[in-house]
Amino acid sequence: MTTKPETAIILGTGLGQLASEITDSYAIPYQDIPHFPVSTVEGHAGKLIFGKLGDKDIMAMEGRFHYYEGYDMKQVTFPERVMYELGIKTLFVSNASGGMNPNFNIGDLMIIDDHINLFPEHPLRGKNFPTGPRFPDMHEAYDRRLIALADEIAAEKGIRVVHGVYMGVQGPTFETPAEYKMYHRMGADAVGMSTVPEVIVAHHCGIKTFGISIITDLGLEDTPVEVSHEEVQEAANHAQPLMTEIMREMIRRS
Ligand code: HPA
Repeated sequence: MTTKPETAIILGTGLGQLASEITDSYAIPYQDIPHFPVSTVEGHAGKLIFGKLGDKDIMAMEGRFHYYEGYDMKQVTFPERVMYELGIKTLFVSNASGGMNPNFNIGDLMIIDDHINLFPEHPLRGKNFPTGPRFPDMHEAYDRRLIALADEIAAEKGIRVVHGVYMGVQGPTFETPAEYKMYHRMGADAVGMSTVPEVIVAHHCGIKTFGISIITDLGLEDTPVEVSHEEVQEAANHAQPLMTEIMREMIRRS
């Protein structure tokens, strides 16, 4: 079977449902791909899947690489380099995050409008790859047309979505109450440990990106609530059918 996907998806913590809908699929475990790191987090299966979603050829990463696992940023973003070489034009990403915007609820789907990069290592540090400029513009890291399409589909289906800025941090600790407060005041609506490096590299490769973050816990100012990985997974499981519905339809129409 030959496949020539122009669309790729990266599925975050507990968000593998869309990948399970891929038909005519073949999966390559990460450990069988040269230079691919191997994912170590519970809930991240770790394989590259090729096949069809509806009538579109698609490539999916089930499980991603996080900086906190110990990889350097070149390893974390190696898959986006592979996507570029394979001819991917559009990337859909999902993740779980802690909401800091007081209008958010657990289980909300946040369409990522923009991000703040607080990772201690930049994925484009070092010799510039010729896929993009040395000093890339980041005004539209998240494609506005795809954001508008997501809004349109969510409205049609009656799915509540919120919009916001995603703060990317290294983890693996969740935030202290003071950190949630600081990140919110810095201009972020949600905070998580992924996505930002991948989006930066994809953008540098000319790949359009779209992201949805599932709000799995809340770090509201002066309302300290404990959070665990299990709770994050449970909230993600709950919200994932709605996210899948939006992304499936976006991929069909785009
Ligand atoms: N902080 C950081 N990462 C996360 C969170 C959080 O509250 N929830 C899910 N991923």
